[in-house]
Amino acid sequence: MNMKLSTLALAGVLAAFSLAVSAESLEERIQPVGKTCMAGDECAAAVQVADAGASASRSGEEIYQKCSACHGTGAAGAPKFGDKDAWAPRIAKGKETLYTHALNGFNGMPAKGLCFDCSEEEIKGAVDYMTSKSQ
Ligand code: HEC
Repeated sequence: MNMKLSTLALAGVLAAFSLAVSAESLEERIQPVGKTCMAGDECAAAVQVADAGASASRSGEEIYQKCSACHGTGAAGAPKFGDKDAWAPRIAKGKETLYTHALNGFNGMPAKGLCFDCSEEEIKGAVDYMTSKSQ
């Protein structure tokens, strides 16, 4: 192989290489937004941590909005918000029992009221809010 040919070959390799690189970055660029950072990916971890930090400050009243689908209407036999008669026998069981039932579920009451990003403290806050407004 003479000098000219090997220079050409090298140029060819370089060109092929840079084509491959740009095709790769193009592929990255055209991926839909949701595909580039999935839940569970390292990139999403920061968001979840930030979320957990922010959620720690949500009030019972705020969390109650997630419970109101059932407790606002009495759906599925849920004790209705503000219904003193419905809540009195439940409140009589004691706060700890209500907390446990709200956290772990109780008959038609799903665990955490289906609020899976709610902390234990937030669920307790929502129980406090609901019961304090229903007695
Ligand atoms: C999918 C409907 C649904 C959602 C959402 C829901 N609840 Fe309930 N909840 C129920 C039902 C039904 C009951 C009554 C269960 C029973 O006594 O058999 C109940 C009962 C309760 C009780 C009383 C438990 C006891 O021992 O008497 C508490 C406290 C409670 N829910 C808290 C909450 C909180 C807090 C949330 C929101 C974070 C929530 N619930 C969201 C359906 C729901």
